[in-house]
Amino acid sequence: MRRHAVITGGGRGIGAAIAKAFDGAGIHTTLMGRDMDRLQATAKGLQKADCRTLDVTDAEAVKEVFAALDDTVDILVNNAGIAPSSPFHRQTFDDWHGTFDVNVHGAFYCTQAVIGGMVERNSGRVINVASTSAQKGYAYVAAYCASKHALLGLTRALASEYAAKDITFNAICPGFAETDLLVESVENIVSKTGRSADDARAALASNNPQKRFIVPDEVAEAALWLISDAARSVTGQAISISGGEVM
Ligand code: NAI
Repeated sequence: MRRHAVITGGGRGIGAAIAKAFDGAGIHTTLMGRDMDRLQATAKGLQKADCRTLDVTDAEAVKEVFAALDDTVDILVNNAGIAPSSPFHRQTFDDWHGTFDVNVHGAFYCTQAVIGGMVERNSGRVINVASTSAQKGYAYVAAYCASKHALLGLTRALASEYAAKDITFNAICPGFAETDLLVESVENIVSKTGRSADDARAALASNNPQKRFIVPDEVAEAALWLISDAARSVTGQAISISGGEVM
């Protein structure tokens, strides 16, 4: 039977790469995000993909959108995320809360929307796209790091709680990856520090011992493995895809 995966923030970047990899494996995907045009542009290249407009911070909308899906959700990928940066002493509680709202509360709402069905079926796979920021600290992204640590904590707790139900929860932790989010981070550094874009990119890439950025397809291949039968015993893990930045 064809499995069904929901991917939040599926219109671009890492989410779109995961959607493409899943689609290639014959999985029915539903891409969720705030920009329907963007979702549809990504879905166009896929064989069986649906799109749903959703802001993952809207608890009621999450309930409604998931309840209206035609298929049960076998796989959930909590990928939607934001990564604002600024010195901590200039951050406001609104900045902090806004980051947690997407990166943690969004994953909470979406996971709550699917967990009941997974428990009933004694089967499910949840992948949280975290970050090396879930495994170590970086300057100027306190809220992001704290939120990704929280997401990893949630992953581990739920892996323990639902292991006997054959529902696995894992976090994928990419280092700096070549996506629009990275472009925004570079623009932010350029505007705030006056450094050139090349300098900013080199500084970010230098975190990775391989001195390069991760490409979304590398993350997608890890996700594909995590939903395979071969990975049925893999749960509660933080899979670092970072050229050895975290080991
Ligand atoms: P991206 O900015 O291209 O993708 C993020 C996606 O989340 C976008 O489609 C965006 O519209 C969506 N999104 C943001 N807020 C949302 C909301 N409230 N409701 C629904 N969708 C929302 O960036 P990228 O890099 O593909 O990010 C995907 C995930 O990977 C994020 O969780 C990010 O934190 C994580 N990540 C990214 C890294 C990087 O260097 N690019 C490194 C490590 C992790």
